[in-house]
Amino acid sequence: MDGAGSALTRAELISLLIRVGVAATVSVVSMRYMLKYLDPNHAAKEQAEKQAKRLIEELGLDRSVNLSEYELQIAAQLVSAAKDGVEWNELGGCDELIKELQERVILPLQLRHTHSARSQLLAPPKGVLLYGPPGCGKTLMAKAISRAAGARFINLQVSSLTDKWYGESQKLTAAVFSLARKFQPTIIFIDEIDSFLRGRQSHDHEATAMMKAQFMSLWDGFSNSDADVIVMGATNRPEDVDKAILRRMPARFAVPVPSNNSRAAIFRVILKEEPLAADIDFEMISRESSGLSGSDVKEICRLAVLRRARELVEEGVDIDYGQRAEERLLTEEDLLESVKKYRKCADVGHFDRRFLNGMFSADSEPLD
Ligand SMILES: Nc1ncnc2c1ncn2[C@@H]1O[C@H](COP(=O)(O)OP(=O)(O)O)[C@@H](O)[C@H]1O
Ligand SMILES: *[C@@H]1O[C@H](CO)[C@@H](O)[C@H](O)[C@H]1NC(C)=O
Ligand SMILES: *[C@@H]1O[C@H](CO)[C@@H](O)[C@H](O)[C@H]1NC(C)=O
Ligand SMILES: [Mg+2]
Repeated sequence: MDGAGSALTRAELISLLIRVGVAATVSVVSMRYMLKYLDPNHAAKEQAEKQAKRLIEELGLDRSVNLSEYELQIAAQLVSAAKDGVEWNELGGCDELIKELQERVILPLQLRHTHSARSQLLAPPKGVLLYGPPGCGKTLMAKAISRAAGARFINLQVSSLTDKWYGESQKLTAAVFSLARKFQPTIIFIDEIDSFLRGRQSHDHEATAMMKAQFMSLWDGFSNSDADVIVMGATNRPEDVDKAILRRMPARFAVPVPSNNSRAAIFRVILKEEPLAADIDFEMISRESSGLSGSDVKEICRLAVLRRARELVEEGVDIDYGQRAEERLLTEEDLLESVKKYRKCADVGHFDRRFLNGMFSADSEPLD
């Protein structure tokens, strides 16, 4: 009776142990599984990895380079110069600035790989700042630089670093620099850099402050190395950028509101594909639109082209095939009327000039 009893308990014990074991395994596995899918970023991560792999192929980068999960997420922000790149000739009226940039940024990058360039002083600057009022071509300029330099271009969305769980954001920040190094020469571009690396304030979120500190120390780390990585920032408010950051950007270029002559050049660049009347006096149009920015000019050109199209439609001309469509060229009057129209909309109320410049450009930020 004793033996039977103990045998029974032993069998029971074993089956109990097995059951506990199975239950534990199942719950551990399902916990893992749940955690993976509970991560709100899971879908976005997979999406980013797919995009990164596609981009790496598209950009013709070395596919044998091994990338971590975090580097892949950053790689999704690589910009393809062939598709989104800008040629110098798409920039109007910045010849002086372009010359300066070619000399100080692009030439050093190109000289790096020649034997005659051993001097440390010939190294490209590690930090470049483009500053000036909105809508005057900073973003455009950055794209043109990366294309001309034949460099990889990471258009860094800072929110993709900060909107993460604690710990993730540090790993991503580190990945920005390690990825840049793997695919050098690389330009890490941060648009509106004032909103990310603005003067550190007491009410800064702790995680943000730490990320900034980490960013700067990584930046210093490669500044002393010979990696061809440039951090390039653009801002409308240089006075709001952290002093420590400004110090790390010794190469600074002003992108000002275009002068009367430059604006005429911008009109020509933006309208270069349009059927133009031969007698347009761009200098006069430019004086009439005195003080307006490049993005304002673009909007004026859009109004002018619309004016021509509307006239044709009203006449019942099939714009694609009509003889009349070829005869009705874009005229000086179209442009002048559009300047007036644009000014009238832009002058509602009495905003200060800062607000007027680029008020209608898609990517200008509201002033605070
Ligand atoms: N110098 C320029 N030449 C040609 N187009 C320009 C120029 N400056 C601005 N634009 C037009 O204005 C738009 C906005 O310019 P952007 O580079 O985004 O300005 P920013 O970054 O300085 O605010 C551009 O997409 C372009 O169409
Ligand atoms: C990438 O990793 C594989 C195996 O993990 C290795 O064989 C290969 O050499 C690595 N490639 C580079 C460029 O380091
Ligand atoms: C541009 O032309 C306008 C109109 O003639 C003039 O008022 C303005 O001073 C000119 N600007 C420059 C910088 O010459
Ligand atoms: Mg911009």
